[in-house]
Amino acid sequence: MDRVEGTSEPHREWKTIFVTGGAGYIGSHCILTLLEAGYTVVTVDNFTNAVGIVKDGHSCVAPSIQRVEQITGKKVIFHHCDLLDKKKLSEVFAEQKIDCVIHFAAMKAVGESMQVPFLYYKNNIMGTINLLEVMAENNCHEFVFSSSCTVYGDPGDALPITEEHPTGGVTNVYGRTKFFIEEMLKDIYNADKRWNIVLLRYFNPVGAHPSGIIGEDPTKPFANLMPYMAQVAIGTKPSLTIFGTDYETEDGTGVRDYIHIMDLAEGHVAALSKLKREPSLGLKAYNLGTGKGVTVLQLVHTFERVTGTTLTLDLKDRREGDIVAMYADPSLAEKELGWTAKRSIEEMCRDFWKWQTQNPTGYRGDVSHMIPAAKSNLSESATVSLTNGNHSAVNGH
Ligand SMILES: NC(=O)c1ccc[n+]([C@@H]2O[C@H](COP(=O)([O-])OP(=O)(O)OC[C@H]3O[C@@H](n4cnc5c(N)ncnc54)[C@H](O)[C@@H]3O)[C@@H](O)[C@H]2O)c1
Repeated sequence: MDRVEGTSEPHREWKTIFVTGGAGYIGSHCILTLLEAGYTVVTVDNFTNAVGIVKDGHSCVAPSIQRVEQITGKKVIFHHCDLLDKKKLSEVFAEQKIDCVIHFAAMKAVGESMQVPFLYYKNNIMGTINLLEVMAENNCHEFVFSSSCTVYGDPGDALPITEEHPTGGVTNVYGRTKFFIEEMLKDIYNADKRWNIVLLRYFNPVGAHPSGIIGEDPTKPFANLMPYMAQVAIGTKPSLTIFGTDYETEDGTGVRDYIHIMDLAEGHVAALSKLKREPSLGLKAYNLGTGKGVTVLQLVHTFERVTGTTLTLDLKDRREGDIVAMYADPSLAEKELGWTAKRSIEEMCRDFWKWQTQNPTGYRGDVSHMIPAAKSNLSESATVSLTNGNHSAVNGH
């Protein structure tokens, strides 16, 4: 151990971070930030929602990771591995000494989770149990979990929402997997105080790396607001459906807390620093949001202004179960992690648009020429309606 600059706190020397779901949207941006902060990254993904191909049952190509390497000039150790394959996970994990794990891998489509709950509980909860067991077997107890503001359920008037707000009351399967995993992590920590766990509760991540080289490219049908807006803007989708225009908000549409993906990525580096500094941190939850509520229409109009496009809107009645407003009180993360979100809504729109216009087919062009069968994990964009309700990304994973 040495000392943290300017303080007398002990500082653990950490080098290697194990990232699950690294080929996905948040994972790839976070890996980039980790590499830039000097960490070595080992990552796994099973390509369930990321473009990638396995060539001969062995070697694989993950374009998002390749592009991260291109931007940073650094290598990432990547394995095609499903968290449900505990044997392979153990082998991959044991290849090097891991200092901390950041766990992104999960299925995250709210609507789909209601239709195939077995799949979501198995993937998200069993995957997490396998990961935690493998960590414990390798004497690694430092863990950062991708949680979500969805664990708060409907906040009603309790806004901005703090980490003190009770969790639970979640009305969809996806959100319940996040809530159950948080509860499980509390039990695991209570049983064994060697664990140090940070729960990062994300609000609504949007945008892309400012280079436009990496961005969001789900392979499953999606209803995420910004990719959807961009698809409408380039004409791939006819219109943007907004459910609920008569809420008691500034313009009648739902209010969310959109956070730039690079701010979110930096929040993970701040969480790692906290864990490094405090070997007995225990279990802590932090909101990662801007603290500013923005209506769906405000985001749409900002997007139109920044990109010079006009979106065709399909305004529909509100739906049962939709949450009116959700935004963070991020002051705990500022106080304890020294982190705040800095980037504006304009930057979120500008950076996403750069990614979208530079890569109209996302990462698909990087692999489609390799193997025709590679298309098997690339579904056509679905005709999913965008909502501001519980059943879409707008409402907050
Ligand atoms: N994007 C959001 O709006 C949002 C909000 C709050 C929380 N989160 C959470 O953040 C995390 C990352 O989200 P994202 O937006 O990057 O999603 P994403 O789908 O882009 O990334 C998740 C990655 O995990 C992989 N994966 C899923 N199950 C796996 C398994 N069993 N084994 C190996 N890999 C697996 C997928 O292929 C994908 O690449 C998720 O846990 C999600 O629930 C996301």
